[in-house]
Amino acid sequence: KKIAIFASGNGSNFQAIADAVKEGQLHADICLVVSDKRDAYVLQRALAERIDTFCFSPKDYNNKEEYEKDILTRLRQSGVDFIVLAGYMRLIGPTLLREFPGSIVNIHPSLLPAFPGKDAIGQAFAAKVKKTGVTVHYVDEGMDTGPIIAQSSVPILENDTEDALQQRIQASEHNLYPLVLEQLFTKNQHIQVEG
Ligand code: GRF
Repeated sequence: KKIAIFASGNGSNFQAIADAVKEGQLHADICLVVSDKRDAYVLQRALAERIDTFCFSPKDYNNKEEYEKDILTRLRQSGVDFIVLAGYMRLIGPTLLREFPGSIVNIHPSLLPAFPGKDAIGQAFAAKVKKTGVTVHYVDEGMDTGPIIAQSSVPILENDTEDALQQRIQASEHNLYPLVLEQLFTKNQHIQVEG
């Protein structure tokens, strides 16, 4: 698979995926990193990994359709056939959804459908639930609403702090995402990964 990774920030999930490719655990070619933030640290990570980047500022465009058309042009140039969202803080619009049916996935730091949207870890912590976790799902036009592919749970401990929980959730993401991608690319699409 020729994949593009979309990210707006730190890119630790990008790094986990890139490392899995280098270690031969994930059979994919990361052709492009797409970011909507010019100062996103993920762009430096991509540079260090010698992976092409496409960076844009949404404010330079009139609307989502316009910038997604530019993204699409760039994806086609790189021959991308699968999109991996990893901390991309925007909804995907019809322009990209139409071109990549069933071929866009996202990772979200909760056990969806619980705690969709922003600050899912903070939401779970504040709700004092006993466990939360990580979900990999297909992307549709909604916010964290597409069909679930795999989930991994993370307990919230008695004397937990939000920071500690976040670290464990991120570690869980870094394990789960490359694993699920490998299964998607090599086996059939209906899988369950237990965590
Ligand atoms: C992750 O927690 C992911 O689940 C969420 O955004 C965060 C991105 O982290 N969608 P990073 O940029 O990969 O470090």
